[in-house]
Parts: sequence; C-alpha cells; structure tokens
Amino acid sequence: MHSTSSEDSGKVGSGRKKIVLAYSGGLDTSVAIKWLEDRYDLDVVAVSIDVGQPGDMVANIERAKSIGAVSAYAIDARKEFVDEYIWPALKANALYQGVYPLSTAIARPLIAKVLVDVARKEGAHFIAHGCTAKGNDQVRFDVSIGALAPDLGIIAPMREWVMTREEEIEYARQNGIPVPVKKACPYSVDENLWGRSCECGVLEDASVEPPEDAREWTVSPQEAPDRPTYVEIGFEKGVPVSLDGERLDGIELIVRLNKLAGSNGVGRIDHVEDRLVGIKSRETYECPAAVTLIKAHQSLEGLVLTKDVLSYKKGAEQRYSELAYDGHWFSPLREALDAFMDKTQEFVTGTVRMKLYKGNADVVGRASPYSLYNEGLATYAQGDEFDHTSAKGFIYVWGLPLRTATLAYRTDGQGSERTV
Ligand code: ARG
Repeated sequence: MHSTSSEDSGKVGSGRKKIVLAYSGGLDTSVAIKWLEDRYDLDVVAVSIDVGQPGDMVANIERAKSIGAVSAYAIDARKEFVDEYIWPALKANALYQGVYPLSTAIARPLIAKVLVDVARKEGAHFIAHGCTAKGNDQVRFDVSIGALAPDLGIIAPMREWVMTREEEIEYARQNGIPVPVKKACPYSVDENLWGRSCECGVLEDASVEPPEDAREWTVSPQEAPDRPTYVEIGFEKGVPVSLDGERLDGIELIVRLNKLAGSNGVGRIDHVEDRLVGIKSRETYECPAAVTLIKAHQSLEGLVLTKDVLSYKKGAEQRYSELAYDGHWFSPLREALDAFMDKTQEFVTGTVRMKLYKGNADVVGRASPYSLYNEGLATYAQGDEFDHTSAKGFIYVWGLPLRTATLAYRTDGQGSERTV
C-alpha cells in the first residue's frame, strides 16, 4: 500500500471518536461525511483508494476536507491489487458462474484492508462505506472488515438513511456539499483494473440487449477493426509478465491489454447473476484484459498440467470463485486454496499467442519449456514414437472391471468372456 498523500486539516482535538470512510468523491459518500458527523457525532477520516478506476484522488482529498473530513487520504493500492488479488484470481481462473471475472468482488476485500490499516493508524473506532442494502458489496465489506478487525464498528449510511435521491441533493445543497452538475449516469458503474461493471436502468430488463451507452471500455464487435490483432502473452509460474516479448509490470500489462482487447470488442459479458443476498440480477461487464488473460492462462495450463491436476483444479476453481464472490476472501479456505493453486503453477511458464478479432479472444498457439505435449507421441505421420503393441493389453485391463460386472450381474447364466 502506497500512501500518495495524506494530510490533516488542523481540526484536531474535537474529542470525538473517529470513523474511517471509504470515499469515492461522488455525491453519496460526500453526503455521508456530513451525515456521519450530524447523526453519529463522529470525526470523519476520508480515504480514497486507487484500484485503477478513473478519477482524481488528490482532488478527492480536497473535496472531503472542504465538506468537513478531519483528515483525508489518497492511497494507491493498484500494485497490491494486482499482486495479491488479481494474480491469485487468475491462477484460479476465477469466473463466477463461469462468466464473471469477479472484478468488483476481489477489489472489495482489498479496500476493506486499506480502511482497517487507516483505522489502526488513526485510532478510529468505526469504518463506513457507501454500499446499499441490496447488493453483494455491503456483505464483502462488512465480512472482510469483521475478519480483519472484529473490534471495529461498521456504519453503512446508505443502508440507514431514508433519503430519496432528491432529498439527498437537497441535503447536499443545504450543507454546502458540491453536487455534480452533469446529469447522473443512468447506470450503476464500478470500475477497476480487472473490469468495469454496469447495472441498473434499462439493463434491469433482462430480455433487452444492453445498449451501446452501457459500454465504455469496448467497441462494438461490429465496429472493431476488420483485421485481427495478435498478441503474445508471456507467463512465469502462472503470472503474466510480458506482451509481445516486452517485460511489463502487472499494472501496465493489464492497462495495455484492456485497451488492445477492448479496441477489438473483446470482454463484453451479459450475465443474469445470482447475488449472495438471494436476488437474481442482470449485470453487464467489460473485462477485456481479464477475459484474454484467463483464456491464455487456461490454455497454457492445458499444455503443462497433467490431466488429473486439470480436472481436480476445476472443482477448486469453482469453489474459489464462489468464496471470492461471497465475501469470504479473508478466510482459511481461500488461503488453503491459494497454496494449492500456487503449487499447480510451478511449471505454468511459457507463451500464448492470442488472436483478438471482432469480440473474440482466441488462443492460436502456445509453447512452454515444460510442455507435456510430445509430437513424437501425438503424430499420425512419420516419426511416431508411440508403442502400438501396448494398446491391446492396456485396453484389456482398462475394460476388465466392466466385463467382469456384466458377467457377474447376468441373471440368464448365458455367456462367458471371449478368449481372443
Ligand atoms: N454484481 C457485481 C458483483 O457483485 C458487480 C457489483 C458492482 N457494483 C456496482 N455498484 N455497480 O461483484
């Protein structure tokens, strides 16, 4: 965690207890600063956390203090997000219900961790976040904060206040809180390095195609270039380290791949998803880098892992995805599964060539020094090294239990095993 800036407003010694607020800079959490002071008589410490979303973190500090926060932090957590959350999820090919790369879900525990760190530093007694009562994010925040710091109280203003949007704007005006001038976006959007989620508005009709204005990171496949773009992704122990032979740090690699794949229409997801709180909801995502990297990673694993590891890992991957979605990131099970995943990645080193074309990211080549693919064994042409004489004996043994069962369960007493 890198603290890019933190400052005190000089408003110290109020004697009030402190609450650390996850501050996005938007209307809801801006109103929350004032509301927490008024309603709970607390000093608010505002924290803006950069996980790769757009927005000016330093401007957030100024805004928070102007509204009344006693101190404000802008924290760049992108590196930690990539190393400790995104790469582990990639090693697990984590896709909730087989399609959603969990971009929002895995950022929440990190944000919770940063909030807890600041709370400790500030001697705060409470943490606040801007989640509503219907989503998964409140669960992820509350459960993660509880797992890391069971002694801290949690307040979710938007879960408590009974203000309509109009009343909220009125409250902001009365309290001198800046209200965004541009028309509110018709969707609820969450963005970070691993993806962009977009829900609400017309998207709530699950039978209707998501309109283009719900998309920002990807062009429509129809509008994508007529020629494919090829990119070679280099992996070391399951972690992407290069694009087209150029070594890149994780943040840069993901940012570049989001642009490259997004400009080819790759990464659009339309999902009717099962929320933890029991609601089915229609969610759309744009995850160009995540979709491309997961496909490439799966393909490299297919080359270097044994059939048994691949098949056993599939089940573990699904469990991993569910626990990440359900807010159990800081759990003994996730730690144990990470240890398993890490072990499987020892030889997941090599390159994968991807073809990005009109909404598709296709694997078109893969290579590894640890490849289990042996052309001498696979070929039907010259140079075949497979011992054809061993096939018959293998099949005799492989089918033995089935023939035995058939003969033993016969009620007609007919027949016996053939001898040739
Ligand atoms: N449904 C997704 C999840 O639970 C995304 C939620 C994003 N939040 C938002 N406010 N748009 O992970």
